[in-house]
Amino acid sequence: MKKTKIAILGFGTVGQGICDILLQKKEQLKKQYNFDFEVVAVSDFNNGNVYNPNGLDISQMLEEAKAKKKFTKDIVKWDNITLIKKCNADVLCELTYTDLKTGGPAIDHCKTALKSGINVVTSNKGPAALQYPEMNEIADVNNVKFLIEGTVCAGTPVINLTDGPLAGCEISKIRGILNGTTNYMLSEMEKGMGYDEVLKIAQDLGYAEADPTGDVEGHDARGKVTILANVVMGASLKISDVPCQGITKITFDDIQKAKDNNARWKLIGSVEKKDGKIIGSVAPEMIDLSHPLAGVMGATNALTFSTDLLGDVTIVGPGAGRIETGFSILTDILKIHNSSLVC
Ligand SMILES: NC(=O)c1ccc[n+]([C@@H]2O[C@H](COP(=O)([O-])OP(=O)(O)OC[C@H]3O[C@@H](n4cnc5c(N)ncnc54)[C@H](OP(=O)(O)O)[C@@H]3O)[C@@H](O)[C@H]2O)c1
Repeated sequence: MKKTKIAILGFGTVGQGICDILLQKKEQLKKQYNFDFEVVAVSDFNNGNVYNPNGLDISQMLEEAKAKKKFTKDIVKWDNITLIKKCNADVLCELTYTDLKTGGPAIDHCKTALKSGINVVTSNKGPAALQYPEMNEIADVNNVKFLIEGTVCAGTPVINLTDGPLAGCEISKIRGILNGTTNYMLSEMEKGMGYDEVLKIAQDLGYAEADPTGDVEGHDARGKVTILANVVMGASLKISDVPCQGITKITFDDIQKAKDNNARWKLIGSVEKKDGKIIGSVAPEMIDLSHPLAGVMGATNALTFSTDLLGDVTIVGPGAGRIETGFSILTDILKIHNSSLVC
């Protein structure tokens, strides 16, 4: 059995999550999918850059990372671009930080890998939201894949749902809850707490960052709407084409008004075909309590796909988390494995 060689850029929450899953499921993956692997390269700002063509000791690396120590074995002094070019991996997992303005170094990482004939799997929204059509074209030319399941709703299957189980359906509309932090905040505000108080609790729980702008102003959801529009609906939208309003202006009176009308506020990301055009938007909406999205509370994500053959299909699941997002990386690695590009 040929082992899939994996390289990982960014050994934080998701990078460690996928390694934990790979270690834990090694025997099951071999038995069930004829899939075996070795992680040959890892790069992380905090832990250092390491490479071993015969496979790194990821158990030890996980222990070192958890103890906030630098890696101690197989250290190389290469920068990320050199590491990608020299590592001879089959799959690069791009798991560094998301930058929705410039794409950050992740765009260069992904392009370098694809041009080197390495498949890319990522949960980083930057390259997917800013340059999906270009990335996909480079992947096609080089006979590899650019897979991004984890960029929307973490491991809850959304993108793989549309080109897998929903293949053959025409999707005319996608609407849903794409940001767990704001959904948690709106759920708590219904219990009678004010915006500032709820934001503080969300920050204490680790849902919202110290600078919560990306979540509460809707920018994170807007990046995901752009990805869905371009990947699922075949549009070529830029993030700036998607009008965006967050939840910062929702008052106690608004919450009460929704209750009086048998409804509930949700921050809704939406992509729709209208007059032959694909239109995206992010805005808070009062959703009737009878709609499946209204029942989705807390930090959970959900999307309703309107299709020609099945009508509405709603999927509900986690939108973040170490194992949940690590799982998205595993499904895309297995997709590559199963498509026989690697083995
Ligand atoms: N966590 C989730 O639940 C989740 C869900 C969906 C999508 N995502 C996306 O998945 C990606 C990874 O998320 P995460 O939660 O694992 O982030 P994280 O915990 O912050 O880990 C990212 C790691 O990458 C390192 N890093 C950043 N830039 C680097 C570079 N150029 N070269 C090498 N290492 C670099 C960071 O170091 P420093 O700490 O020093 O910067 C950090 O150790 C992000 O793009 C995120 O938006 C995460």
